This record gives sequence, C-alpha cells and structure tokens, in this order.
Amino acid sequence: MGSNPHYSTITRAGLTLDKMTRDKSKTKEQLIEELARLRKRITESKKLTTEQKQTEAQIKTSLKEKEMLLKEIHHRVKNNLQTIHSLLSLQTKYLNDEQDKSLFKQTQDRIKTMALIHEKLYTSQDFVNIDFREYIQNLSAHLLRSYSVASRIGLRIEVEKITLDIDRAIPCSLIINELVTNSIKHAFSNDKKGCITIDFHTNKKDHVLSIQDNGKGLPENLDYRNTESLGLQLVYALTEQLHGKVRLSRSKGTKFTITFKK
Ligand SMILES: Nc1ncnc2c1ncn2[C@@H]1O[C@H](COP(=O)(O)OP(=O)(O)OP(=O)(O)O)[C@@H](O)[C@H]1O
Ligand SMILES: [Mg+2]
Repeated sequence: MGSNPHYSTITRAGLTLDKMTRDKSKTKEQLIEELARLRKRITESKKLTTEQKQTEAQIKTSLKEKEMLLKEIHHRVKNNLQTIHSLLSLQTKYLNDEQDKSLFKQTQDRIKTMALIHEKLYTSQDFVNIDFREYIQNLSAHLLRSYSVASRIGLRIEVEKITLDIDRAIPCSLIINELVTNSIKHAFSNDKKGCITIDFHTNKKDHVLSIQDNGKGLPENLDYRNTESLGLQLVYALTEQLHGKVRLSRSKGTKFTITFKK
C-alpha cells in the first residue's frame, strides 16, 4: 500500500490540508484554491492508478497470447517432423537394400528424437523448459521398442530431476539417441542379453550424462574420436555445441560420459 502513488498522494494531501488549517495567514479564497488544486491532484493520481491497472492487464493478456503462440509453434514443429518421419516410412517400403533401410531408420529415429522434444515442450508448464527425466524414459523406451529388443536388453535409468531449455535439450537428446542406439545395435551380438544404464545428474558446476552398457566393448582398433561413420562424429559435434567434454571408459563394456556446464 505504501508504494501505491494514489495512497501517497492522499497522505500528502492530508498533511498539506493539516498545515493549511494551522496557517491562519491564508485567506479563505486562497484555501479554497489550494483545496481545488489538491482535489485535482487526487483525481489525476486515481486516473494514473487505473491506467496502471489497465497496462498490467494488457501485459498479462499479451504474455498469455505469446505463451499460446509458443505452444502452437512447438505443436506445429512436432507435426512437421512427424510428417517427415511418415514420408521416410513410406519411402522405406520402396527400398530393397538392407543397408539403405537401416540408414532411413536411423534418420527416422533422429527425427523422432527431436519431435519428442517439441512434444514435451508444448505439454510443459512454461513451454521453455523440459523435464529431462521423463523425456529420457520416453526416448529410451521408444528406442528399445523400435529395435524390438525390450525383452532381452534391460534399461536402468538413474536420472535426477533436471530441466533443460531447447538449446541444450536438442543436442543432449540427439547424443542420447546415438549412444543408446549404438549400445542396442553393437554391444550385444548374437541376441545376447544385456543392460543399458543412463545416468544424468548435476554437481556444483556441471551436468553429467553417462550412457553405459555391459556389452562386448568398442573394437580395440577403433579410433573413436575420428570415425568414418556418422554416429560418434555426431556425439562429438553435439558435445562441442554444448561446450562440453566426452570421456570414454572401456573397463566394463562401453561407457561414454558427457560433461557440460549448468
Ligand atoms: N556400445 C558399443 N559397443 C560396441 N561397439 C560399439 C558401440 N558403440 C559403437 N560401437 C562401434 O563403433 C562403431 C562406430 O559407431 P558409430 O555410431 O559412429 O557408427 P554406426 O553405429 O556403425 O553407424 P551410424 O553412423 O549410423 O551411427 C560402430 O560401427 C561399432 O563397431
Ligand atoms: Mg551409431
């Protein structure tokens, strides 16, 4: 109440009136004139408060409209990505070569990974930040289903409640897509059983994401920082985009750890 200009004007007017009644030297006309001036100031102050309220209401409406627009944009981006996904699905039917089919499938998964981010964004509270724990659960479950390996490859998700904005959520999700897909495709040959663990937590300064499998490990002779294939190249490029670092541990299967600033 103290900061309300309307109230402070009334208080000031009260004080002035008080002073005026004590000031016997002023004539009646002067007092009437003074009173009229004060009344005018109070009316102006009331008008100002009403205008302020109107501006506040306008800002709130505009914010709501912007939020709805943001939601709509994410919805449309997701739908467009879904359309590209479906087009690739249709085209895959005309392919005979298994390698070509696999390339199309990988691209579809990368598109699906991004579409899922936009889906999460338009169902999020502020349309800006994503609950990454829920996202990782959905994405990894989708990947296991899409490679039909859910019955033989187990999934352990140890993820703290972390929210990321879209600039970091997209590279981060694509890294998870590449590394989980690699574990599914390469770690367990001959339909062996296995487990993939995804850990995502924060310490004082960093977000730390690790994807580990208990499979056969990367080939000894593979220069994993400099591959011909796209997958690991993408992991390094996307980590650079996050200004982060990649570490590899080969002690039990394969474990990639990506660290980037909070
Ligand atoms: N988790 C893993 N366990 C065992 N080998 C792996 C694992 N991840 C990757 N590899 C090996 O590293 C190679 C390079 O991986 P990379 O993701 O770059 O290529 P890719 O999976 O073969 O193809 P793509 O470009 O479609 O991802 C793989 O071909 C595979 O031999
Ligand atoms: Mg790969």
